[in-house]
Amino acid sequence: MSHAPLTDLAALEDIPRPGALRIMAGGIRIAVFRTGSDTVYGLEDRCPHKGGPLSDGMVHGACVTCPLHNWTISLETGRAQGADAGRVRTFRTEIRDGRVLIDLTELVPPLNATR
Ligand code: FES
Repeated sequence: MSHAPLTDLAALEDIPRPGALRIMAGGIRIAVFRTGSDTVYGLEDRCPHKGGPLSDGMVHGACVTCPLHNWTISLETGRAQGADAGRVRTFRTEIRDGRVLIDLTELVPPLNATR
């Protein structure tokens, strides 16, 4: 288990329930979803079908429905549900003392990278 440093994003209360907060990191758009039961999930904000903005979709349970053509994506695994195939990248998130933290370490090049 790695204990990579997490990035502090926002207060949990700043994310609509249910709903999403959008951030940019490492050149990609990431949606941080808050469910009706106050669980948070980080996913790339790009539907595996045709790139729709999942952050504009409807969150229900631990899933989001894409606003463009209604694919349903699991917030836990990033996988399309039902007959649809595809997967969106996920990022580990955590709630600590009412703050939402996310692990973005894989987007940051290592500081000691050789040129
Ligand atoms: S782009 Fe998301 S369902 Fe088509």
